[in-house]
Amino acid sequence: MFLRNVWYVAAWAQDLPSEGMLARKFLNERVILYRDTKGAVHALRDQCPHRAAPLSVGRREGDSIRCMYHGLLFDGAGKCIEVPGVERIPPNLDVQAFPVREQDNIIWIWMGDPALSLKEGPVRLEATSSPDKWFYEPGYLHYNQASYQLIMDNLLDFSHLGFVHENTISGGTASSEVRAQIERFETGVKISRKYYDPLGVPPAFKPLAKFTGPADRWQIYDWRVPGNLLIMESGNARAGVGALEGNIPEDAIRFSSVQALTPETETSTHYFFMQAHDDAERKEEFNDILVRGVKTAFLEDRAMIEAQQRVLIEEPDAPMNAIPADAALNQGRWILKRLLEAENKVSAVA
Ligand code: FES
Ligand SMILES: [Fe+2]
Repeated sequence: MFLRNVWYVAAWAQDLPSEGMLARKFLNERVILYRDTKGAVHALRDQCPHRAAPLSVGRREGDSIRCMYHGLLFDGAGKCIEVPGVERIPPNLDVQAFPVREQDNIIWIWMGDPALSLKEGPVRLEATSSPDKWFYEPGYLHYNQASYQLIMDNLLDFSHLGFVHENTISGGTASSEVRAQIERFETGVKISRKYYDPLGVPPAFKPLAKFTGPADRWQIYDWRVPGNLLIMESGNARAGVGALEGNIPEDAIRFSSVQALTPETETSTHYFFMQAHDDAERKEEFNDILVRGVKTAFLEDRAMIEAQQRVLIEEPDAPMNAIPADAALNQGRWILKRLLEAENKVSAVA
């Protein structure tokens, strides 16, 4: 089950070049994204209403797309504007168009009722859209076999860091032993993790560090259930100078990151991520270190979560026995359930 009436990340803006097309499945529906001659993004169902050929093997013609099976031509709103050799276009040949927005270097898509998309735009993201302050390379991973809910569980419980990411973004187990502070808000959860790490800056971030020795570390983030978004401020500072109380020293490493999960099917997921740093002098070099370091860590997550999903496919009712670290994921799941119920109730009435 998916929330439909929310904005999801469809792509990084740079992944859809001008003149380009990008075929992706969202919420079990095939979609083709493309830019028109002015650069505006359109999203159409990737299935020709004539004989179901995918439009993604068609071709761009100006602001339109032509199906390359029998040549029907569709405009950016999905309207069939030409049937070769036919003067009057027969009915039912329009293709479904989905609302899209390009904002903060992201292409967002709305897979629900188009009228409701007008109420509110996607959430604004400072980390992805402050080119003078935050520097990053966008990242993407595809989960072939994991429901977005299992990945959401993972992101709501960083106690896995010390084990899954021992050699990358964690180091030792200090990050697993801290008890997170959790606050629930209407449609999400705010999580604060602040701790002393005797091992200092974790392996993946060591090349960025300007200090050595033990570190005070923090990860403070919102998990927004609509759109499955993680929005985080995190960092590492020399231990003992008061960073966790807000006195962040000059030589600290600071990050601002966004991660987003967009369901592809019930058991496959698009995972978008970025982790920005604020060191203008070593911008390119750090972008590179970060995108590689973070991606290595997220591949570690993927290996674990896909293995977990394989077990759950064989045994869907496998017992899940709680430990205290599950608190945030339980809240996240509860909010998701409530929002899904509310959406289904409304659509049942409508
Ligand atoms: S299937 Fe597209 S034109 Fe026939
Ligand atoms: Fe992880």
